[in-house]
Amino acid sequence: MTPVVEAAGLVKRFGGVRALDGLDLVAEPGQVVALLGPNGAGKTTFVRAVATLVRPDGGTLRVDGVDAAREPGRVRRLIGLAGQYAAVEAAMTGRENLEMIARLFGQDRRTARASAAEVLDRLSLGEVADRLVRTYSGGTRRRLDLGASLVGAPRLLLLDEPTTGLDPRGRIELWDAIGGLAAGGTNVLLTTQYLDEADRLADRVVIIDRGRVAAEGTPRELKSRIGGDLVEVHVRDRAALAPAARALERIAPVHTDPSSLLVTMPAEDGPDDLLKAVRALSDHHVAIEDVTLRRPTLDEVFLALTTNPERTPS
Ligand SMILES: Nc1ncnc2c1ncn2[C@@H]1O[C@H](COP(=O)(O)OP(=O)(O)OP(=O)(O)O)[C@@H](O)[C@H]1O
Ligand SMILES: [Mg+2]
Repeated sequence: MTPVVEAAGLVKRFGGVRALDGLDLVAEPGQVVALLGPNGAGKTTFVRAVATLVRPDGGTLRVDGVDAAREPGRVRRLIGLAGQYAAVEAAMTGRENLEMIARLFGQDRRTARASAAEVLDRLSLGEVADRLVRTYSGGTRRRLDLGASLVGAPRLLLLDEPTTGLDPRGRIELWDAIGGLAAGGTNVLLTTQYLDEADRLADRVVIIDRGRVAAEGTPRELKSRIGGDLVEVHVRDRAALAPAARALERIAPVHTDPSSLLVTMPAEDGPDDLLKAVRALSDHHVAIEDVTLRRPTLDEVFLALTTNPERTPS
């Protein structure tokens, strides 16, 4: 299958700054790909290059097989772009906004009405459709922005920090909307600085740092790269440390930390190992305070991969 996005050795300079410094990235159809990176990593520059708003100085970039440098007009018809800067008109209703955009795409009045209705339905905006946009909450407004970028039925939806500035409820609403679009088959490339957002939405996460890919994989793969899950057992008192260690040692090698009354054990099978550990502790009548399965977070992955230069592949 033709990749939705295929970038090879992409370079973009702004004066002395290499915003993109040989970036390689392939996004397969049917996926939500999240670009994760610190400020200035090159995320927006990449999205703008895919949207043909920035012209790279080197490398190649194809969108759905179409060369962005040679045929930018064709690429523009394949993409929808939303984010902090997408514009909807506050003095019009949501429905009027979408119908206007559909008309700008060259649809006749009737088709435009139908496209707007379909988008309103897909994003569950029916209830607010006939209210002026200026009365919308921030989250609802952002959802309408998302809708506006869908009107042209794009092959690829580009979202640059879609939830920045939203409150927790607005973020969750937008996550649901994006998740719904992805489930319906829309290809999504989004940027974010929020690790929980990447973890929640993305099939694949690409961590970029200084204009290059530092690591990529599913959220799960990235987490396992910096070490797998652990079972952590807090025992009630020092006397329980040795029995706990003995009980768990039958499952996997343990590490004991007397000062924090903690025994840890690697849990390659995640929840299964947690169950085994609980059973073993119970069988041995060990006095425990707390047992948890601890999984590395994407935050830990991000810090490990973007601050330690030795881990950044060159
Ligand atoms: N139009 C421009 N002119 C000059 N420098 C630019 C321009 N656009 C981006 N840059 C520089 O390129 C680098 C990458 O910027 P970019 O906006 O792509 O990063 P980002 O990952 O989106 O960061 P953020 O998380 O802050 O949005 C930065 O050093 C930035 O200052
Ligand atoms: Mg940016």
